[in-house]
Amino acid sequence: MSETPRERHVETSLLRPAAVDGAITPPIHPASTFAARDAAELRELATRPRERRFYTRYGNPTHEHAEAIVAELEGAGTARVFSSGMAAISTTVLALCAPGDHVVAQNVHYAGTLSLLQKLAPRMGIDVTFADQADTAALTGAIGARTALVVLETPSNPMLAITDLRAVSEAAHAAGARVLVDNTLASPINQRPLAFGADLVVHSATKYLGGHSDLTAGVVCGPPDELGEIWDLSLTLGGVLSAFDAWLLQRGLRTLAVRVARQNATAQALAELLEGHPAVRAVHYPGLRSHPQHALAAAQMDGFGGLLSFELGGGVAAASALAERLELFDLAPSLGGVHSLIVPPAAMLAGVLDEQALEAGGAAPGLLRIAVGLEHPDDLAADLRAALDAAAA
Ligand SMILES: Cc1ncc(COP(=O)(O)O)c(C=O)c1O
Repeated sequence: MSETPRERHVETSLLRPAAVDGAITPPIHPASTFAARDAAELRELATRPRERRFYTRYGNPTHEHAEAIVAELEGAGTARVFSSGMAAISTTVLALCAPGDHVVAQNVHYAGTLSLLQKLAPRMGIDVTFADQADTAALTGAIGARTALVVLETPSNPMLAITDLRAVSEAAHAAGARVLVDNTLASPINQRPLAFGADLVVHSATKYLGGHSDLTAGVVCGPPDELGEIWDLSLTLGGVLSAFDAWLLQRGLRTLAVRVARQNATAQALAELLEGHPAVRAVHYPGLRSHPQHALAAAQMDGFGGLLSFELGGGVAAASALAERLELFDLAPSLGGVHSLIVPPAAMLAGVLDEQALEAGGAAPGLLRIAVGLEHPDDLAADLRAALDAAAA
């Protein structure tokens, strides 16, 4: 008799996809449409809810390969991929809210999410209350009888503030509201919001899930009944992921656990280096004991992630000069890929966010945000130390 298989580690299960026709990696299905055997089957496919073998805007086998992996990682019943993180977020928010509904969100979200909640939602008759995510009482206090949805994102970008997922989910559910968490920055290796009571999780799969800065994608995960309305609206809004990007996504996911473990360790080492350097005024990383919410982060995260930020005196000019001096950190937006990236948020977002939003996000003029890649940590540390020493000289 064969033994019951042991529960495997995530690194292993990510590499054990069901083989298709003996092939060790799944094929790409570029087809935009699928043939029925006869007219009766065509009618059935056209009318069956959420049919995935009809037309690629409805679903595609290559989408399903990626969706199955992300759903399992998040501990969710199901997942649906989109053409970008913003397609996933906007379709989800609009599917879950009707005119007259109230939404609670954080003061700080990804700029595209903020724009959706500040500009588009009010035009659809949805009003939104924003609260400080680090102030759990303010966030839960904003939830009322009309609240349909609470939108969370933790850690925040670029200040790495933490939201108490369990406390906010409990308050939301007590008021009959759903909780949607953008889990992009943590990745499901470091944080699984559904285990803390959230109803739905979204990702910009462009970041850690894809992991190589070579695709743009989004994904929403949750129970099949919750995803139904989102699936229906996605057919109208049409943010369909290309089959090629879906294939790249499933490929990138195979190494997610290994990449994130290394990025966690490198980010921690760089955060500690920065904290000890005289040119640095402050470091923001939830893995540091000095982070004001370190205990909360440790309670709900298995790792603290690959993103950190730090402040220099000397404002935007000093931040920009340091970023330009670095050799191993590309001056580029985004995060979660194999290459280390750096941005001075105040300089970068000056044209995108108004001054108030920048201040609310805590982006001091001398702030720099690092997204750690997979280069050797000693090389990254040496590059950073040399640039900081030059700045201090
Ligand atoms: C936290 C977070 N959510 C959502 C998005 C939007 O994702 P995309 O660029 O894939 O549309 C981003 C992009 O930077 C992000 O950082």
